[in-house]
Amino acid sequence: MLHRTAPTGKLLRQEDRNGVKGLILAGGTGSRLRPLTYTGAKQLIPVANRPILFYAVEALRDAGITDIGIVVGETGREVEEALGDGSGFGCEFTFIPQFAPLGLADAVKTAARFLGETPFCMFLGDNLLRGGLRSLVDRFRSGDFAASILLTEVPNPEQFGVAVVDGERVLNLVEKPSVPPSNLALVGAYCFSAAIHPAIARLTPSRRGEYEITDAIQNLIDQGLPVDAARVSGWWKDTGRPEDVLDANRLILEDLKGRLDGAVEEESVVTGRVEVRAGAVIRKSVIRGPVTIGEDAWIEESYVGPYTAIGPRVKILRTEIENSVVLADSRISDVPGRIDASLIGRAVTVQGQSARPRALRLVLGDQSRADLIL
Ligand code: DAU
Repeated sequence: MLHRTAPTGKLLRQEDRNGVKGLILAGGTGSRLRPLTYTGAKQLIPVANRPILFYAVEALRDAGITDIGIVVGETGREVEEALGDGSGFGCEFTFIPQFAPLGLADAVKTAARFLGETPFCMFLGDNLLRGGLRSLVDRFRSGDFAASILLTEVPNPEQFGVAVVDGERVLNLVEKPSVPPSNLALVGAYCFSAAIHPAIARLTPSRRGEYEITDAIQNLIDQGLPVDAARVSGWWKDTGRPEDVLDANRLILEDLKGRLDGAVEEESVVTGRVEVRAGAVIRKSVIRGPVTIGEDAWIEESYVGPYTAIGPRVKILRTEIENSVVLADSRISDVPGRIDASLIGRAVTVQGQSARPRALRLVLGDQSRADLIL
């Protein structure tokens, strides 16, 4: 295979290798996660009781990147409140408003002033990467690439950016193709030299009307610039859909360390790795880890089974639940049967009723889903 390759030593200077910045994309609409995202940013949906976005910040920080720009959209204020100025993470944040979600490349363009000519690592704020970003960033720093991207094999490549590679060299890329040329999906983590900016300036909107970062990287390849591909180690999760949030919750809980700051009262049985946050009370209940129970939650005469995250101030009364995520301030009581594989939003009430007539009474928000036992 013949490559047109730019001479090495041109793309990254020594000071650039040390000074890589971070860029997290936390704008967009979150339409696939409705109704959960009607009231909040999708990047703030908690996985194992922590906003997804926190894991993105930690991935960059653990790769040695602390000067981080955060691109925000209409939920910007909420994102800013949740993240703070960065000091809590040992980072410095610059919030960058993007006026409309016109695409990943448009987000980079919006951040142009923050980025300057410095190389940067971009990470999508709704993605989770178990193996972290260090090996991608180290590889980019020690090579001389216009871009380094991260790939993984997926069963449904038509839903992602897809790459064709020759070893570690990317040959071409296409965004959400109807006929995928390979099963290698672009994971939401990219390192770029300043060569990406003119490539973005040349873009026109894609079929879905967005400025695609995938097309900008293809533009680098078309210029003969080297684009390097690394493979994901560990797992990767794009949390775009509700079932992805449940999967991500399971994967993060796999690594949970047990911790008991709340009260486990007599007549309760807690087994496995269980995190009980301050102010939470477990009364006459069985908890089988891995489970996390948020601050001031109340579990009474209930069973909470493996891979469940119970949010802060949630009440679970006389109910069995497992393999589920319950967000803050919800109340679940006297539910017959067992709740399984469920994603329950904030301040939701789910209650069993013994009153007649024995009818279902539902108040479900737009685009909610309820699966009932027949
Ligand atoms: O998850 C990996 C995939 O992410 C890649 O395989 C694709 O090549 C890439 O285009 C992207 O596809 P998605 O359709 O999943 O991107 P999404 O619209 O979900 O946006 C990803 C993140 O970027 C999300 O946290 C929202 C944020 N975003 C998105 C847009 C379009 C912005 O901040 N601004 C934007 O304009």
